[in-house]
Amino acid sequence: MPDVATPPSVSLDAPRLVRACFGEVLDRPPVWLMRQAGRYMPEYQAVRAKSDFITMCKTPDLAVDVSLQPYRAFGMDAVIVFSDILFPCEAMGMTLQFTDKVGPSLHDPLRSAADIDRLIIPDPIEKTGFVMDALRTLRAELSSNPDTALIGFAGSPWTLASYMIEGGSSKMYVHIKSLMYNEPQLLHRLLGKLSETIILYLNAQIDAGVHMVQLFDSWGGIVSPDQYREFILPYQQQVFAGLNRTKPDGTRVPVTLYVNGSNPMLELMAESGADVLSIDWQTPLAQARQRIPKTLALQGNLDPNALFAKPEVLGPMIDAMLADGGNTGYIANLGHGVLQGTPTEHVRFMVQRIQGKA
Ligand code: CP3
Repeated sequence: MPDVATPPSVSLDAPRLVRACFGEVLDRPPVWLMRQAGRYMPEYQAVRAKSDFITMCKTPDLAVDVSLQPYRAFGMDAVIVFSDILFPCEAMGMTLQFTDKVGPSLHDPLRSAADIDRLIIPDPIEKTGFVMDALRTLRAELSSNPDTALIGFAGSPWTLASYMIEGGSSKMYVHIKSLMYNEPQLLHRLLGKLSETIILYLNAQIDAGVHMVQLFDSWGGIVSPDQYREFILPYQQQVFAGLNRTKPDGTRVPVTLYVNGSNPMLELMAESGADVLSIDWQTPLAQARQRIPKTLALQGNLDPNALFAKPEVLGPMIDAMLADGGNTGYIANLGHGVLQGTPTEHVRFMVQRIQGKA
């Protein structure tokens, strides 16, 4: 019988990434890269030549294979499941499409109360079971490498609402901001529904075996700090409070928050309840440590464009980041996702440099 009175602690055999999340002293930080699987890899292009992106995500065998590609090629300390933040929006009742030219689009973007009321709170297994199937297989695949972590993720309520209201990626944010100014209560209603959806979705991922979850608030930086406090922070808090962060056997599942354009929001992010804050390249790690001293761990934050620099330039940038990050409460990563066209040799160089092999 497990001793339920024992407080949850990070077990010594937890993967390096999890130990870093909880501030254990390590011989080196773990490293993984946001969007580490993708078109910059020839192995990915080969799978993509035969299947479209949505099919790849929804076919667990393909998703598992693609999730493992960067791990097999470069040996990162974590595998993130190959999927997309927009599948829960589809599960709520919208139509999702990806095209090479425009990227993702959600048809009939939300514009009215009726549009929002029509959305359902989907059962994550019934509607997005392909993600959990891929996770279960990945966890089994990684069982022989207990130091490698499996990461699950979701988009934040605000970022998903932005996609659902704009209908896709946006440069001007006219519709989401109009709704925020003209009908804030309606926006709150949508954000509340999204929070419920994401809690169920991430808890299903935790049940399927992830070691860590990351919430992507890629559009969290397009507002003022006051607006962040009103429309973004409460829903991040709600999501993090709703997650099963301690498993029945006492294992703790750390949660990470990434916000793009986060410099003005760091102190607010630190109130979200996340264990780890993933910051973009515009905030020096040392400054972040000073501003949010209570946060257990930081993740980041090399400029994704630095991976296009020649190794003589890239090497010292990585070293400076590592010196700033240290060996305690730090996860080496980029400040945003790997860009298309990134030289694979530079990704290998970065991973090996952090792991002390280059
Ligand atoms: O990190 C990983 O390897 C896991 C995979 C992953 C993808 N999308 C695969 C993907 C993750 C974590 C995401 C999250 C995601 N998706 C975010 C948050 C992270 C961020 O970048 O800010 C966002 C905003 C999306 C929405 C989305 N999906 C966009 C804007 C695009 C088009 C961008 C592009 O690169 O073309 C996608 C498509 C997408 N998601 C691709 C991949 C590999 C490209 C698909 C292809 O054409 O092959």
